[in-house]
Amino acid sequence: MEISQEKILAHLDKKIFRLISEAADEMGVACYLIGGYVRDFFLYRPSNDIDVVAVGQGIELAKAVGEKLGKRSRISVFKNFGTAQIKYKEYEIEFVGARKESYRLDSRKPIVEDGTLEDDQKRRDFTINAMAFCLNGERYGELLDPFHGLQDLEDLIIRTPLDPDITFSDDPLRMMRAVRFASQLGFDIYPDTFDAIRRNRDRIGILSMERVTDELNKIILSPKPSVGFILLERTGLLDIIFPELTALKGAETKDGIGHKDNFYHTLMVLDNITRQTDNLWLRWSALLHDIAKPATKRWDPRLGWTFHNHNYIGEKMVPKIFRRMKLPQNEKMKYVQKLVSLHMRPMQLVEEEVTDSAVRRLLFDAGDDIDDLMTLCEADITSKNPEKVRRFLNNFKIVRRKLQEIEEKDKVRNFQPPVDGNEIMEIFGLPQCREIGLLKSAIKEAILEGEIPNEREAAFQFMLKKAEEMSLTPLKRE
Ligand code: CTP
Repeated sequence: MEISQEKILAHLDKKIFRLISEAADEMGVACYLIGGYVRDFFLYRPSNDIDVVAVGQGIELAKAVGEKLGKRSRISVFKNFGTAQIKYKEYEIEFVGARKESYRLDSRKPIVEDGTLEDDQKRRDFTINAMAFCLNGERYGELLDPFHGLQDLEDLIIRTPLDPDITFSDDPLRMMRAVRFASQLGFDIYPDTFDAIRRNRDRIGILSMERVTDELNKIILSPKPSVGFILLERTGLLDIIFPELTALKGAETKDGIGHKDNFYHTLMVLDNITRQTDNLWLRWSALLHDIAKPATKRWDPRLGWTFHNHNYIGEKMVPKIFRRMKLPQNEKMKYVQKLVSLHMRPMQLVEEEVTDSAVRRLLFDAGDDIDDLMTLCEADITSKNPEKVRRFLNNFKIVRRKLQEIEEKDKVRNFQPPVDGNEIMEIFGLPQCREIGLLKSAIKEAILEGEIPNEREAAFQFMLKKAEEMSLTPLKRE
């Protein structure tokens, strides 16, 4: 990798690094920048998370640096873990003493024996995360890379510094991290590291679901999430953490009629949507849009393979998956449910002749999520036939135009009934009852069907007519 020593020194010529260096030299402590910050420097990825390892006395070094920074910094000490954190400007700096045993901030194990820098480096997860820059006097900016992380960065390889069975048994989350880095950076997992993940995959079960899901979300947010999901599948991790997804695998054929492999289709949809949005929940909707296909798959001798109602069954599966994955049980989940349930609607409009009332109904059902729904639906076009794709995309343009026209005219996206329930109750002197409900929904239906415009006077007259048909008489007004 072509990065000169001058470039490294220029990068390290920051006040914060100079102060750490000064404090370490005064204390006679060897100290290094290490981990993700060093990796990201070589990848030209700016980062404000800085890890510093001191050979002995990590906390004391942090305190000395804190004093030098004065009031502008805030220090927190985690004595049990032997770490300290300083927040200064946009930086978060983590100090730790070099360890002989595995480096894990959230480990519940007591602090382990002090070690040398190399002891510390070899207990880290991957070679690319084990590189260090010295921060002391003469050696300022020297790269310490005993496991050839720089070479692996160049070769785009994720590999453990030690025997991978040891690295993964130190912390099984590293199996997820390997896949996540491969997906984020577009790297390959080195064969012996990959084999060890397969061998140790069951140990993923001892982790808290929150930590696993955190990594899964990072995979979903990566530039090409299919890379991560295919690795999760091949290592056997996916079957353990997300069996609903592996159930999508496979394409069955009967009487010469096949259906597509819904696992790879789903990953294509996810990759497609990733090019359009960074919204994690919209990406989750893409991942789950066909999740109920295995549960609803039937063979019909007349129709071939069918997946009736997979959108509604899928909507119902979402809460269970979210609960198990410790994902939020709030409006974000409801949003994913809504998109899963509606994901075929815009496509149906494309296939049928687009009537105004069908467009109004879609606008009414999707509300403010209509644009996201259209994005999902467009990402769902994965046909290999370019002519078919072209036709769909073209028709999609027509649907989008139609959506815009109708919304401008009828304003049904955030439908507010032009005559509301309270008013109807007052007019007929009735409490909340079945008749009021019927009148309300008749008004809504008439507007969506285009029988009347979405306007007060028309809705009022329509309501009086409907009421008469139902033999309801308005109270006499003075
Ligand atoms: N580390 C490790 N094993 C873990 C977690 C972290 O060895 N399970 C080490 C790695 O050296 C890593 C460093 O701790 O580089 C910092 O960890 P963290 O901040 O979680 O990750 P980063 O590598 O900085 O990457 P990101 O910020 O993308 O998570």
